[in-house]
Amino acid sequence: MMKREKFSKVGFVLSCIGAAIGLGNIWMFPYRLGQYGGAAFLIPYFLFVFGLGTIGLMLEFSFGRKFKGGSSTGISKILKEKNVKLHGLISIIPAIGLMGVFMFYNVVVGWILKYFNLSITGEINKINTASYFDSFIGTPHTLIFNFIAIMITLLIVFLGVTKGIEKINKIIMPGLFVIFIILAIRSLTLPNAMEGVKYLLRPDFSFLLKPETWVMALGQAFFTVSLNGCGMVVYGSYIGDDFDIPKSAFSTAILDTLAALLVSFVIMPAVFSFGLNPQAGPPLLFITMPTIFKSIPGGSVLIVVFFLSILFAAISSSINMLEGPVEALMQKTNLSRGKASVLLSLSSFILSIPLNLSMDNFSNFTDLMTIIVSPLAALLVAIIFLFVLGEDKALEEINLGSKFNLSNKFILVSKYLFTITTICVIVLGVAYGGIG
Ligand code: ALA
Repeated sequence: MMKREKFSKVGFVLSCIGAAIGLGNIWMFPYRLGQYGGAAFLIPYFLFVFGLGTIGLMLEFSFGRKFKGGSSTGISKILKEKNVKLHGLISIIPAIGLMGVFMFYNVVVGWILKYFNLSITGEINKINTASYFDSFIGTPHTLIFNFIAIMITLLIVFLGVTKGIEKINKIIMPGLFVIFIILAIRSLTLPNAMEGVKYLLRPDFSFLLKPETWVMALGQAFFTVSLNGCGMVVYGSYIGDDFDIPKSAFSTAILDTLAALLVSFVIMPAVFSFGLNPQAGPPLLFITMPTIFKSIPGGSVLIVVFFLSILFAAISSSINMLEGPVEALMQKTNLSRGKASVLLSLSSFILSIPLNLSMDNFSNFTDLMTIIVSPLAALLVAIIFLFVLGEDKALEEINLGSKFNLSNKFILVSKYLFTITTICVIVLGVAYGGIG
């Protein structure tokens, strides 16, 4: 059997940050922040990301490290010991869920690739930005871009943990922050940009009285740190006993939040400077931002850099979404990394065809994955780790390699707080028709 690959300490944290920073930060966070009370939204958001999000990350990293395998390894081992029937089938639920996330996510990565291409060729200046997006999505034209997006991810995952995933994250994560800072400076120096800053920072505390603000902050927090019972588990399975898990979880949450805030200061000042709608939602990236870039000096270069940064963010998440299922397939079948990654990439492209061709399919499938399957898989891992394996073993694993030892009280609180909140994520998601 091949020796299991290992992340370096820096490589691990950067890869987790890469998995966390993605479309959730760029697409959803800025307008959520504006929509739910500006800076007031940060109160529940910080509470959920730094409270629950970091607990979830610690659980997932330690689960992977403990069993030196993705969630399918740990789940089937524990359930088998307990003589649970269908342990093999139950164990692959998180990997199947993440595969589903990979599928819809890469449809969007395909759109971003298309816009990146339009920006590089300068064609973006010729199209009617307002109508182009709607005429492009949901059509066969998206297929080729979806395919290329999947192939980029495949290439990285094919190369392996150290030569592929770690290496690419070490390049693109610092690059991403540099680009965000440059773009934020440009955006903040546009006329009237301060209106956007006020929109983001002026707290409207009345929103804290609305349950929806808390519900959306919760969903956003779960999605942004990638809690799905698989992706962060598999990254945790590639670390040594000397890695500080609590510190890594906090670093991931802090940098993920920083990225979300930075992007908000790229998008909103520009949107206000041009008097556009800050709550446009999905069209914000594909209609509003291109409209702005078309009108500012140097915009034709900046738009390339803008879509490149989104690609960086999205691909660093996408590789985590493919690695989880690939590792599970390798464990279950003894297939090589190469074969498992090619097989899953091609199957996911074929299965994604209906998602590319119909926006109804796309949104129904996305809802199913984000509202039900992902939180359910996160819940499964948490229950198996904390309730079945037990608090003591879980705590021992979390504290292994950490300078600061967490106490029994921490694990007891996490046990109930995390599982109950994850159930709330599912119930509220169904009630609100999506919160992530
Ligand atoms: N956490 C990733 C994102 O925010 C999936 O897009």
